[in-house]
Amino acid sequence: MFLQDFQSNLEKYSQELRVPDERQRNVFFEYLHFVKACYSLEKIDNILEIGSGHSTPLFSTIAKDYGSKFYSVDLDFSRVKKAIQGTQFEQIVDKYCILTKSLSVSVEEFTSYYNSDYISTFMGKDLKEFHKSLETFITLSGDIRKLEKIAIELKIEPTIEELIPSILSSKGFFSNKAIKDIYSFEEQFEVETSFVRNHEKPFHNDFNNSIQTIPSWDVVFFDSGEFSNNIEFEKLAPKIRKGGLAILHDITFPKSFKNFIPCSYILANPREWEIIYLDTTKTPQGLMVAKKC
Ligand SMILES: C[S@@+](CC[C@H](N)C(=O)[O-])C[C@H]1O[C@@H](n2cnc3c(N)ncnc32)[C@H](O)[C@@H]1O
Repeated sequence: MFLQDFQSNLEKYSQELRVPDERQRNVFFEYLHFVKACYSLEKIDNILEIGSGHSTPLFSTIAKDYGSKFYSVDLDFSRVKKAIQGTQFEQIVDKYCILTKSLSVSVEEFTSYYNSDYISTFMGKDLKEFHKSLETFITLSGDIRKLEKIAIELKIEPTIEELIPSILSSKGFFSNKAIKDIYSFEEQFEVETSFVRNHEKPFHNDFNNSIQTIPSWDVVFFDSGEFSNNIEFEKLAPKIRKGGLAILHDITFPKSFKNFIPCSYILANPREWEIIYLDTTKTPQGLMVAKKC
């Protein structure tokens, strides 16, 4: 059984898949928690991963064992290919993973989300309801360069007490260009917008034509770009079946912009989601695995 073998031989698998350094090895070792959660499910018909890499051979193996359809969405699969080349996973990915070269968001979704003056809701809930749970996903230790820049931009002290009201305030945290620049390619949010604009035509159709037509997901791994995850989560989380899993990576702010809002939403809604694994400190990315109730 893959789970037992993987659990006992994490180091061996990380070497086989060419995980390059200790930092990424720790991230890879933490993937054991979502692998375990997947193998605890009775059935898995459909798996979706947005953001390919070392996670891809793991989900491909799960798909092989469960007879699932596994879609991996990315614009660039070179990292997966490099990792699996010449290993036992080359054939497994080839046979059990549907590589979907696609952008997960449209220009319309992207620009309307980030040009809004004030994003006051997430998943139909008032963001203010996440006040308490946001505390869990704001980590002020580690590399504080982004925090310092944000504090200067928001004209606040770099503390949780001052950050949370600013995120929730109507002053436009999400429309603040300087903050979005901090998390952007080349520190320019226009570069992110042009990237989506330039790739939408050739590469967004597959997302609409294949991924969006699947009515229900057993497992979704949200691990794409800094600015796409909020939009992806709102589109896809409602399609995760009861008992299915949402897996989220890069979950703490200010290190990342990626998943701290979806994670705060999950933590604030215990009737809808049971958190089965949560780490915000062992690796810089952290990891959440949550089961739909
Ligand atoms: C953090 S990496 C994924 C890491 C991977 N899960 C692993 O275990 O190694 C993020 C990936 O998401 C892809 N990506 C970013 N934004 C995307 C989008 N909007 N649509 C599709 N793929 C996207 C990038 O090309 C990149 O390969």
